[in-house]
Amino acid sequence: MTTAPEYLAPEYVTYAHMDELHELQVPRSDARGEMNFILISHVKELLFRAVIDDLDTARAALERDDVADTCLALARATRTQRVLVACWESMNGMSVDEFIAFRHVLNDASGTQSFAYRALEFVMGNRPERQVEAAVRDGHPLLRVELEKPSIYDAVLQHLARQGFSIPAECLAKPPAQQHESNPLIEDVWLQIYQHPERHHNAHRLAESLLEVAYQFSHWRATHLLVVERMLGGKSGTAGTDGAPWLRAINDHRFFPELWTFRTRM
Ligand code: HEM
Repeated sequence: MTTAPEYLAPEYVTYAHMDELHELQVPRSDARGEMNFILISHVKELLFRAVIDDLDTARAALERDDVADTCLALARATRTQRVLVACWESMNGMSVDEFIAFRHVLNDASGTQSFAYRALEFVMGNRPERQVEAAVRDGHPLLRVELEKPSIYDAVLQHLARQGFSIPAECLAKPPAQQHESNPLIEDVWLQIYQHPERHHNAHRLAESLLEVAYQFSHWRATHLLVVERMLGGKSGTAGTDGAPWLRAINDHRFFPELWTFRTRM
């Protein structure tokens, strides 16, 4: 009797640890939808990380006042964000009865506990006191490191100040972990830039790239809310929130706030 030869993993498998990757999806039930739910959750986590990496590159380019490189990195982030939005399509193939068949195995697991998502919110500049305190107290090391850096919007304001725009001193001097609060004087700066885009070409380009990142983020949140309504109706979430209403309130939040509000005055 011949025995099967030992499997020798080719370079593709060893290089990116594909064997280990495919061992990570471990459903806790026999329900048909659970494997897809875990797979898409993994894909999204990895894509959050890809967006963080591009925003990190953009932040470093801003510190060098290199607007071209900043816009390039933001455009790359945006491409990945579009894939993140599209991922909901795969999850939407699941019917509510298929979801309910395994929802109980999640226990209190919730996206609110995703450190990669929280890191992404922190990079973007959403650093509410409650989340910052929780991250410093018992958060993932990645979050503590992130809170020592300025957010991407802080870096933008510092860049604009170096270019001679009138950014209020308190916005530039605040500690990095503290959230930027919307300021009418910054709204004035964006208005000035958009009223004379040819004079402020670089700043205008930068603003458009930033807005696209913020837009795609809100798009992801809005689609998540739709998926939640589709899967839960009026049920509460596994983290103990009231579900859709809680997410609806979060949907009102906008990154880079003055970039949205100045438009009323155009
Ligand atoms: C059937 C699919 C899903 C349902 C029904 C659902 C439901 C919910 C609900 C109700 C919340 C509010 C907090 C809570 O009480 O748990 C929430 C938060 C969250 N979910 Fe989902 N979710 C789903 C899929 C996903 C996936 C695939 C991801 C990405 C990996 C994700 C990421 C998040 C994040 C990051 C939050 C926190 C948002 C924030 O803090 O602003 N969710 N989800």
